[in-house]
Amino acid sequence: MILIDTHTHLFLEHFDKDREEVIKDSIKNGVQKLFIPNIDSSTTKQVVKMGKDYPNICYPILGLHPTSVKENYKKELEDLEHWLAKEKFYGIGETGIDLYWDKTFIKEQEEAFRYQINLAKQTELPLIIHSRESFDEIFSIIDELNDDRLKGIFHSFTGSIEQAEKILSYKGFKIGIGGIVTFKNSGLADVVAKIGLEHLVLETDSPYLAPAPNRGKRNQSSYLTLIAQKIADVYHVDMETVAKITTENAKKLFQI
Ligand code: NI
Repeated sequence: MILIDTHTHLFLEHFDKDREEVIKDSIKNGVQKLFIPNIDSSTTKQVVKMGKDYPNICYPILGLHPTSVKENYKKELEDLEHWLAKEKFYGIGETGIDLYWDKTFIKEQEEAFRYQINLAKQTELPLIIHSRESFDEIFSIIDELNDDRLKGIFHSFTGSIEQAEKILSYKGFKIGIGGIVTFKNSGLADVVAKIGLEHLVLETDSPYLAPAPNRGKRNQSSYLTLIAQKIADVYHVDMETVAKITTENAKKLFQI
């Protein structure tokens, strides 16, 4: 069984003491490929290093996270172009809009999102979208900029079936499902049941959002098996089937 964690922030300090062990443990559990989205210019070097230290296991993704969009965002965006010219990346992100933590920079968040959509189109790399309390804003920007080159993932999806259908109306996009699907009362499992496995990719978003029964602990890529098992239960199929289809989806999207 081969699973792919399409979203882990393995470069963060939460893993400084045991990063190597976390990767070994992940591989031992069948989670053999890890996609590593960036946060901002303070983490880019570490993201690049992960790809060099673990070739064919860790895949770096370059972007500016919406909660890192501040007064200096133009400088941050220029920095992305600099790195894109220099190193190999497998996606653009994470980007998007976050209206949960802070609305101060909403205009700047929108501008940084548009900029990264254009980067994704130019490079034909998948876009990793963070949408927290911001589906309407994100949909209106994608409606405007979508074309056949644009593809990607709505990461850590927690929306309604109507929002899932809107995402899938953009032909190039998959829905990223993480630990929240295992939380009782999240209601996400009922939504996922109506979406169809062919539209999903799996992710941990580690160190955040550990799936049950590890909820509240540090998350890590080996826990992707708990998410895959929950998805298998939702669709009444075995875990092999979930692994096969979601891994194929991820490989196709990231072209690996
Ligand atoms: Ni993330």
